[in-house]
Amino acid sequence: MPSSEERIARLVAMRDDAKLGGGQARIEQQHARGKLTARERLDLLLDPDSFVELDAFVTHRSTGFGLDEQVILGDGVVTGHGTIDGRLVFVFSQDFTVFGGSLSEAYAEKVCKVMDLAVKVGAPIIGLNDSGGARIQEGVVSLGGYAEIFLRNTLASGVVPQLSVILGPCAGGAVYSPAITDFTIMAEGTSYMFVTGPNVVRTVTHEDVDPERLGGATTHTTRSGVAHLAAHDEAEALDLARRILGFLPQNNLADLPLVASDDPRDRRDSVLDGVVPDEPARPYDMHEVIDHVVDDGRFLEIQPGWAQNIIIGFARMAGRSVGIVAQQPAVLAGALDIDASTKAARFVRTCDCFNVPLLTFVDVPGFLPGVGQEHGGIIRHGAKLLYAYCEATVPKVTVITRKAYGGAYDVMSSKHIRGDMNFAWPTAEIAVMGVEGAVNIIFKDRLASAADPESERKRLVAEYEAEFANPYIAAARGYVDDVILPSETRPRVIRAFDMLADKRDTNPRKKHGNIPL
Ligand code: HXC
Repeated sequence: MPSSEERIARLVAMRDDAKLGGGQARIEQQHARGKLTARERLDLLLDPDSFVELDAFVTHRSTGFGLDEQVILGDGVVTGHGTIDGRLVFVFSQDFTVFGGSLSEAYAEKVCKVMDLAVKVGAPIIGLNDSGGARIQEGVVSLGGYAEIFLRNTLASGVVPQLSVILGPCAGGAVYSPAITDFTIMAEGTSYMFVTGPNVVRTVTHEDVDPERLGGATTHTTRSGVAHLAAHDEAEALDLARRILGFLPQNNLADLPLVASDDPRDRRDSVLDGVVPDEPARPYDMHEVIDHVVDDGRFLEIQPGWAQNIIIGFARMAGRSVGIVAQQPAVLAGALDIDASTKAARFVRTCDCFNVPLLTFVDVPGFLPGVGQEHGGIIRHGAKLLYAYCEATVPKVTVITRKAYGGAYDVMSSKHIRGDMNFAWPTAEIAVMGVEGAVNIIFKDRLASAADPESERKRLVAEYEAEFANPYIAAARGYVDDVILPSETRPRVIRAFDMLADKRDTNPRKKHGNIPL
């Protein structure tokens, strides 16, 4: 019988062994690739000394292919819980030094255990991905393990925030776990995501492409929209995950985090009075508006490199988290196209399911015209944004800075679809369409028969502009609640959110709606 001392020594030795994962040589290989180990990543992600590991002694159960001689404690994934800014989170961190981080049955069970705990106690779950995918030697058992994780991702969706940080390979069906989570962050140069890799692509479509161009961080944050943020290195990627969580509640029933700010609630900002140019076709940068309105000018933009005609992200107003959706007149004149619609729709739903109030800045000339857009399904995709705003029951405050034309006026959190407080700047133009287009249509005959069509057009444009290109017709109907000075936007928006703090609104009972996908 071993003595207590021997038993304790055994435990200590096993713990040390588990900490080494695939061993020192593989840790060095990992470093040589410019990557951190699964545990080093957790050290950066979590508050110091907060990590509590679970299942460090779990091992795989395979016997074939010589695997019975390669049993490694922990089996390629480090799981447990810790804190971020003092708030509980659950984590799994894939360990590439053990069988390339590939997923076995036992490994999947470890991941599922922390996911189940996260949902039970109502805390976010963060997955750090660095894996060769299904453990080939385990075959269909490994595929079953992935499916168990996908199911949990889906059931946890809208219950607890789920974040994925991609820090190495993430390929094949494995990509569908991050794809279901709320936010995906990728490290530049060392991470990639694709359903089929360059070799299969070459065989099937004869396209020659390297992993980086096929599915690297730049590709997914500028072309596909699959990932939300790209980071220069792993430390930055993990910091971004911390920052995103700082804006979200622990779960769908918890209060939003409040972060005190010295930025005065009643701060007026005269810069805003000069942001919108006098010429209606001149662009300006909507970031300037956002930066001058939110607490301390701090805005965490999400998907900044994709569909730049719409801006989404998190900020705080008087300490309270808000999700911001804003047109960007400097790109495609702020028109809504397919990508902008799906980008904003997903974000509106993310905010709504976690009770983050929505602040919308509108300067939209309409949906983007074009054969490509129509054939690509702008009707279906634009409907997503309309649906998302209609369905959202969080406090919704809208500020129309300039154009709000046509169907896009309705879509962008208008009063008619349950916008709670809708403001317009005096520069707002709320109309069915732009002045030139309207004049060409309604005065077609008069222009055709005019002795001097050009001067007649100018006269009619001026007349129409004076009559319709302003916010007062909408204000007369109560479609905007007030016309405000740009400089007073911050205090008015904060007071609106104060007033709406205890808002209750519901949708009819149903199994679930049928958002056009
Ligand atoms: C078992 C694996 C593995 C896997 C890597 N390894 N992937 N073992 N199952 N899926 C092992 C390697 O054998 C090697 O072990 C060690 O991990 C490191 O891998 P390397 O190839 O040396 O590393 P690197 O050159 O960096 O290449 C990384 C890689 C490559 C690109 C990920 O390993 C790779 O292509 N792996 C296979 C990927 C794959 O086809 N997976 C299954 C896809 S299907 P040794 O002991 O030799 O060092 C899938 C579907 C998911 O995943 C299902 C969801 C429904």
